[in-house]
Amino acid sequence: MIVLGIESSCDETGVALFDSEKGLLAHVLHSQVELHAEYGGVVPELASRDHIRYLVPLMEQVLQQAGITRSEIEGVAYTAGPGLIGALMSGACVGRSLAWALGVPAQEVHHMEGHLLAPMLEENPPQFPFVALLVSGGHTLLAYVTGVGQYEILGQSLDDAAGEAFDKTAKMLGLSYPGGPILAKLAEQGRAGAYKFPRPMTDRPGLDFSFSGLKTFALNTWHDLQAESEGQCEKLTQGRADVARAFEEAVVDTLSIKCRRALRQTHCKTLVIAGGVGANQHLRQQLAAMVKKEGGELYYPRTEFCTDNGAMIAYVGCLRLMAGESKALSIDARARWPMDELPAIRA
Ligand code: KG4
Ligand code: ZN
Repeated sequence: MIVLGIESSCDETGVALFDSEKGLLAHVLHSQVELHAEYGGVVPELASRDHIRYLVPLMEQVLQQAGITRSEIEGVAYTAGPGLIGALMSGACVGRSLAWALGVPAQEVHHMEGHLLAPMLEENPPQFPFVALLVSGGHTLLAYVTGVGQYEILGQSLDDAAGEAFDKTAKMLGLSYPGGPILAKLAEQGRAGAYKFPRPMTDRPGLDFSFSGLKTFALNTWHDLQAESEGQCEKLTQGRADVARAFEEAVVDTLSIKCRRALRQTHCKTLVIAGGVGANQHLRQQLAAMVKKEGGELYYPRTEFCTDNGAMIAYVGCLRLMAGESKALSIDARARWPMDELPAIRA
């Protein structure tokens, strides 16, 4: 079955074609980074308009790349939530309309399920069961995954998501949008041990996270540094990199401690990282070392499939359509959508 997948939940427009027999045929992405950069963050109305502008040309492009025609599409999948409602509605309307025009079924896809199953697109995919660390701009959660749609949430962030904390801290340090990768780059110039930040909620049992205090800790450290340096440019430049490094180390350490705890609690040896923050090299390195020590294995998608993309949506849509899921002709999108409400697919 060939499924066209559409991702439009936030600031990337992604379109892909997945074939249940041949795998991923093609995928294309348009990033809105430049559009939102001057505002320092995503402007929802501009995001929706831009999705509308790019969806049809991207669909043409992906068909051309895959070398197939519109009439060969056998199903359409689109991200129905969670995300920005206007942005979601753009993809949902285009996806539903295309499916209706072609006379094929349309399938709603949960954005986080897309992230969670993105490592399945790789050559050496993880086997169920596994523990998944989902770290994106909107979510931070640990789940015990026993199959498609079988997600036991072990813990999640009580306040900011890890990516959100990266983005807000970057903004406080005067870095541009999108903050996460820019802060990570700056952290490479930071000196080890210049500052020691707390590892929130690691001193008590449980698998929940809290990153908002860490952000405040970074802000206070940065303000103290600004006051102390009395305008000495060099000191301030190095200090900013030191703060970035201390912040990144604290987030990475905290995530690693909780992942180890989750693996031990579930007696599971396989860890999967997914979502935008999963692109962070230090996080990957530290988790790889931790998992190796535990005698297990770490899996993650290629970097371009850590952040938002259409491939993960086409893949999940294809799985669900093949399992016989279908819905009456309606256009639904949900800004909030708990992942444990998803129906399981029995193998
Ligand atoms: O999964 P994603 O593309 O979108 C959401 O579903 O939220 O994740 C985006 C998040 C942003 O917060 C971004 O700053 C963060 O992932 N991110 C990173 C890195 N690359 C992206 N955070 C830390 N280090 C990175 N290298
Ligand atoms: Zn995402």
